[in-house]
Amino acid sequence: MATPYSKGLEGVVAAETKMSFIDGEKGILEYVGIPIGQLAEHSTFEETVFLLWNSRLPKKGELADFTATIRGLYDLPEQIEAMLTRLPKDAQPMHAMRTLVSALGLIDPKPNATDVPTVRQKAVKILACVPTMLAYFHRHRQGLPLIRPDASLSIAENFLYMLNGAKPTPTMARAMDVCLILHTDHGLNNSTFSARVVISTLSDIYSAMTAAVGSLRGPLHGGANEGVMVMLNEIPTVDGAEAYILDKLARKDKIMGFGHRVYKSYDPRATHLKVLAKQLAQDTGNMDLYEKSSRIEKTMAEAVAAKGIYPNVDFYSATTYHCIGLPLDLFTPMFVIARVGGWAAHIIEQLSDNRLFRPDVDYTGPHAVNYTPIDSR
Ligand code: ACO
Repeated sequence: MATPYSKGLEGVVAAETKMSFIDGEKGILEYVGIPIGQLAEHSTFEETVFLLWNSRLPKKGELADFTATIRGLYDLPEQIEAMLTRLPKDAQPMHAMRTLVSALGLIDPKPNATDVPTVRQKAVKILACVPTMLAYFHRHRQGLPLIRPDASLSIAENFLYMLNGAKPTPTMARAMDVCLILHTDHGLNNSTFSARVVISTLSDIYSAMTAAVGSLRGPLHGGANEGVMVMLNEIPTVDGAEAYILDKLARKDKIMGFGHRVYKSYDPRATHLKVLAKQLAQDTGNMDLYEKSSRIEKTMAEAVAAKGIYPNVDFYSATTYHCIGLPLDLFTPMFVIARVGGWAAHIIEQLSDNRLFRPDVDYTGPHAVNYTPIDSR
């Protein structure tokens, strides 16, 4: 039985999940029932991924095993590294990531396996390799030597180490880890939905993840964090922020990092990122960015909060990533590192109780039209 057309599938329930619970009116996000704030305070990215993949927190030994398995897979397979170092240096990192995630399927002897235990193994490999791919690509494009992964480090620490060639300070590593936790999963967001749609054909995890990376890149989705930084750079001074925003709103432009299909109150991830951004901005001499962000938030609150438009996860993550020292075009790929954990969880969940996604469409074209021969048109 067809349900009425809903543009953008707003309000349509298209899957069941045991992972993220979101209450968009109250601004609540839980992973497997645990409030996101508690995870941001006490957990690690690795533990959060275990939670999503197993619907429970790990015991000490389980976390140690899971972490060791991931760390043992940090190194890129030889063929992928060879391919990466031949990629055009001026390629955009998100395009490089999409290609490299897809390429992992080329060297897998059983790329099409869709049984859950095998897919879980592939998922760990992708989770472990993606940060290495990004760090290597960034160094390759700068003509710098690649820094081999260090298996004594966490995903967050190791990524920053491979990127910069120096181990991060504990504050930076923890900030990075918290960002990963906050970005890991978020219901049936566009990229997660893309991954579930693809895997529902019983295609393969590489195709599903590749589709998800492509979806995440869009400026209405994960690409918004780069848009926020562009905006912050365009605003000359803190005092110029209000006029800049009001001018954009008058022209009906979207303000990047604001608004959400589900949240009609403050995005709880933004609550944590705001605190993190302020602390890092103070530590790194970037308070102008934080103050510009605050002024934008205040202007938006006065202008459009009544419409339910508040900062989303991307707004304060821009300042946070800048303070961690990431270049602008690595902001969205950073999101990929985190969201691979969520995409994999959804791919596994979909495969565990699969039915092909195949919605209907309302046909709005003409009927019974006679075919006109080409010479008579
Ligand atoms: N700035 C200004 N106005 C906005 C914004 C914004 N960021 N977001 C929504 N609005 C307004 C729209 O203009 C529209 O107003 P109208 O009813 O007067 O025409 C109304 O709010 C509804 O907007 P829609 O675009 O229809 O809402 P939708 O649910 O389709 O979009 C979206 C959600 C895409 C996130 C939107 O808010 C947006 O484009 N935000 C900017 C991009 C962004 O930050 N994306 C990241 C989202 S979080 C994530 O994906 C990780």
